[in-house]
Amino acid sequence: MTHDDDRGPAPMPSGRPSSGAIVPEGMQRSAAFAPINIALSKYWGKRDHERNLPLAPSVSVCIAELGTLTIVAPNQDLDGNVMLINDKPADQKALVRVGRVMRAVRALAGTEVRAGVRAVNTVPTAQGLASSASAFAALARAATAAYGVDLDDSELSGLARLGSGSACRSIHGGFVLWQRGELDDGSDSIAEQIATAEDWPLRAVIVHIGEGPKKTPSGEGMRLSAATSPFFSAFIDTCFRDVSECLGAIAGRDFERLGVVAEANCLAMHATMLATRPGLLYWQAATVEVMHTVRRLRAAGVGAFFTIDAGPSVVVICEPGAVDAVSTAVGGIPGVVKLTRTRVGGGAHLVPNG
Ligand code: PMV
Repeated sequence: MTHDDDRGPAPMPSGRPSSGAIVPEGMQRSAAFAPINIALSKYWGKRDHERNLPLAPSVSVCIAELGTLTIVAPNQDLDGNVMLINDKPADQKALVRVGRVMRAVRALAGTEVRAGVRAVNTVPTAQGLASSASAFAALARAATAAYGVDLDDSELSGLARLGSGSACRSIHGGFVLWQRGELDDGSDSIAEQIATAEDWPLRAVIVHIGEGPKKTPSGEGMRLSAATSPFFSAFIDTCFRDVSECLGAIAGRDFERLGVVAEANCLAMHATMLATRPGLLYWQAATVEVMHTVRRLRAAGVGAFFTIDAGPSVVVICEPGAVDAVSTAVGGIPGVVKLTRTRVGGGAHLVPNG
């Protein structure tokens, strides 16, 4: 059985947070759902690897429906946190990251009580679809509620960031800016909402493309790029300009302007990855075919642009009338395993009776 790093083994009798667990006074089993987010100007480079502090700001949108549902059940009988992800015991790497968030929550709550944690992803892991962003945003939201800790959304984003940098952007819904921040303790490196999903109700088609050989996890990839990619510092400089451009496009609801900067920033990140030694090649053949298809559609007047994180899958952001044309055009590409037609959505929220 898996447990976090600060105490000895702690079997969870039923293999999941059970309703019969001994919940200390003032604490309650709590559940939260958080969405994935996709960056329009990317985060690829850290100034602090422990605290997940970025070298540059980034801008993202939250994607409705896909994400993580997490239940946190404080239990005074446990010697260490125990966790299931999609009904399987979490591995040691995941537990270390979960442990960082849970330690911060216990410190805020002034308790040593550990918890059972159960996370269920509605998004496939390891396809480059930001399942760690939704996972740590949901954990931060559920754990603070379970331990009776009252944080505002900015503070919650700082907590989620401890597990995964991009998770801070899944606390708020809609369009989100993650500030680089200047302080060493990271207290000013937080996410803020710049427009709601209702302010600009864009759609998205998630083009799921199966994983090839084992990919390099983002933290390791960022270290390698910083150390070896000749384009790394140019990319970081570009991000400052691209974030300003994204903010201008979002403020003006200028879809064409947003598409131009988002595609350029995505390709600049992947150029930096490709020039890393050894090269980080996250794309499959289908990834490239989807990019060409989206560009062909756009040239024919369809309002759509693509973006891709550290994996083969592609997110196509669409104007409302473009979803059918995009789905039809990319759905038949060999290597595309599934399409999810969705939209820009809300942020992390508590779910009753999880
Ligand atoms: O938060 P992490 O460590 O999973 O890194 C996310 C990195 C990218 O998804 C590639 C870019 C981004 O801004 O989300």
